[in-house]
Amino acid sequence: MSQVPALQAVPDGIINLADHEAHARQRMDDNAWAYFSGGAADERSLAANRSAWDALTLWPRVLRPLAGGHTRLQLLGRELACPLLVAPMAFQRMAHADAELATAYAAAALGAGMVLSTQASLPLETVAQAARLTPGHGPLWFQLYLQHDRGFTRQLIKRAEAAGYEALVLTVDAPTSGVRDRERRARFCLPPGVSAVNLQGMAPLEAMRLAPGQSALFDGLLHHAPTWDDVAWLQQQTRLPLLLKGVLHPADALQAARLGVAGIIVSNHGGRTLDTAPATATALARVAGAMRGAGHELPLLADGGIRRGTDVLKAVALGATAVLIGRPVLWGLANAGAAGVAHVLRLLRDELEIAMALTGCATLGQATVELLDTE
Ligand SMILES: Cc1cc2nc3c(=O)[nH]c(=O)nc-3n(C[C@H](O)[C@H](O)[C@H](O)COP(=O)(O)O)c2cc1C
Repeated sequence: MSQVPALQAVPDGIINLADHEAHARQRMDDNAWAYFSGGAADERSLAANRSAWDALTLWPRVLRPLAGGHTRLQLLGRELACPLLVAPMAFQRMAHADAELATAYAAAALGAGMVLSTQASLPLETVAQAARLTPGHGPLWFQLYLQHDRGFTRQLIKRAEAAGYEALVLTVDAPTSGVRDRERRARFCLPPGVSAVNLQGMAPLEAMRLAPGQSALFDGLLHHAPTWDDVAWLQQQTRLPLLLKGVLHPADALQAARLGVAGIIVSNHGGRTLDTAPATATALARVAGAMRGAGHELPLLADGGIRRGTDVLKAVALGATAVLIGRPVLWGLANAGAAGVAHVLRLLRDELEIAMALTGCATLGQATVELLDTE
């Protein structure tokens, strides 16, 4: 039986996500902070994620009827209270002892979605139970990193299905980790008691004997990196809808649609993998345009740098059905456990409602590209 985390108060003075960040910095040590907040290399994509949302101007429409408006939407056959999901993020125990359990409770209480990472620090069954026991909970999805041991991957999928996860999210933008300078400078290491518990029992990847001139990456690790063939393989392994996370190029989005995936998450992994990859807002506009042009109607989601309700509205206007929230969830978690995560999600939802009202959108469906200055 999972334990309901004790409720902690959100510290005074926190009124937006930037306040959550500043407060969380005080609570986390340098090791955890480097891991949670860092991006790849010179962190250009990390910064671009933010600046691209900021660069989009909202053109408000006035005098439209707004009474009875709402933030509800349909996603994979389910109604959601608001277009927010918690992005999959590894090792949440480094932020708070209640870890993914607190995150799942908070998301469920707010009717937001929750995507659990393969590298969660708690068993996937414990987290699922927490979410599913909460009335009105949003969608519960499991993020998959394809493992070198395909038999183990299959077992992981079966566990996720049995525990009640409603979709699988295959992350495709990280065949290897990015160049994480910030983590290297901080000599990042997982603290005792934090590990990828759901991968326990998997046979370790055997070290390849490299011939002179061979690359440890190309002749080693990348032998197990997912390819388009694995997408088809995965679809055969599960009855759950499969989404791809980490698609940026319109051509990849079109290929995914042709393979019949259930949805696409436009993401650059929060700027943590390929530095100088395009900002999410830029990629989302292109992917949405290509999908519309080809007549594909599958859900597009997006994440990266979303810190305000106006950012959520901009993503929806560009063509996203919903967005995923990454680091701010970890800040809320560090600041006040489940209550802190709930506070972050509530702030975003309230800000979204206000942004909708002030742009003349009674529903998310009314938020179209005409709201944006994309010239
Ligand atoms: C600390 C941390 C851990 C992450 N772990 C994962 C993971 O295990 N799997 C995954 O697909 N993405 C992972 N991501 C990427 C997020 O799912 C998401 O794409 C990104 O954080 C969104 O950007 P934002 O943090 O600016 O909101 C991680 C991100 C962070 C910050």
